[in-house]
Amino acid sequence: MSQQTVFEQIGGLPTFERLVNDFYSRIEADPELRRVFPPDIEEGKIGQTLFLAQYFGGPDVYNQQRGHPRLRMRHAPFEIGRRERDLWLEHMLEAVDAVGIAEPARTEMREYFIRASTFMINKLEPSHPGLKVIK
Ligand code: HEM
Repeated sequence: MSQQTVFEQIGGLPTFERLVNDFYSRIEADPELRRVFPPDIEEGKIGQTLFLAQYFGGPDVYNQQRGHPRLRMRHAPFEIGRRERDLWLEHMLEAVDAVGIAEPARTEMREYFIRASTFMINKLEPSHPGLKVIK
C-alpha cells in the first residue's frame, strides 16, 4: 500500500486539476499575489497541473510537452521574495485541505510545498525576518 505513489493515492489527474483550480482561485482572490502572475494564467495553470501530477508519480506529460522543469529558471522572470513565498504556500496548503487530500499524501505534499516554495525565492531583501513556519 505504501508503495502507491501520491498520484495514485489521491485519485490521479482529476484531483490535481481540482487542486490547481482551487489554488488559482485563491491567487485570483489575493491582489497582492495576483500582481506577480501574468495577466493570462491559463498556460501556467496547465503547466502547474501537469508538473505536480508528474512530480508525485503520474505520467511524464509535463516533460514531454515542456521539457525539463528547471523550476528556478522558469521562475526567474517573477519577483519572488519571502512575502510572495509565504502567500503562495499559504494558498497551496489551504487548497490541499480544501480538496480533501488525506494522509499520508497530505503530509508528503505539504513537506514538498514548504521546501520547494522556499527554493523558489529569488529576490534579495535587506532585512532577514526569517521564514514563516507553517506546521
Ligand atoms: C512548490 C513550489 C512551486 C512549484 C512546484 C511551482 C511550479 C510551477 C510550475 C510548474 C509553473 C508552470 C511552468 C510552466 O508553464 O511550464 C509555475 C509558474 C509560475 N509560478 Fe510557480 N511554483 C512554485 C512556487 C512558486 C512561488 C513561491 C511563486 C511566488 C509567487 C510562484 C510563482 C509562479 C509564477 C508567477 C508562475 C508563472 C505563471 C504563468 O506563466 O502563468 N511559484 N510554477
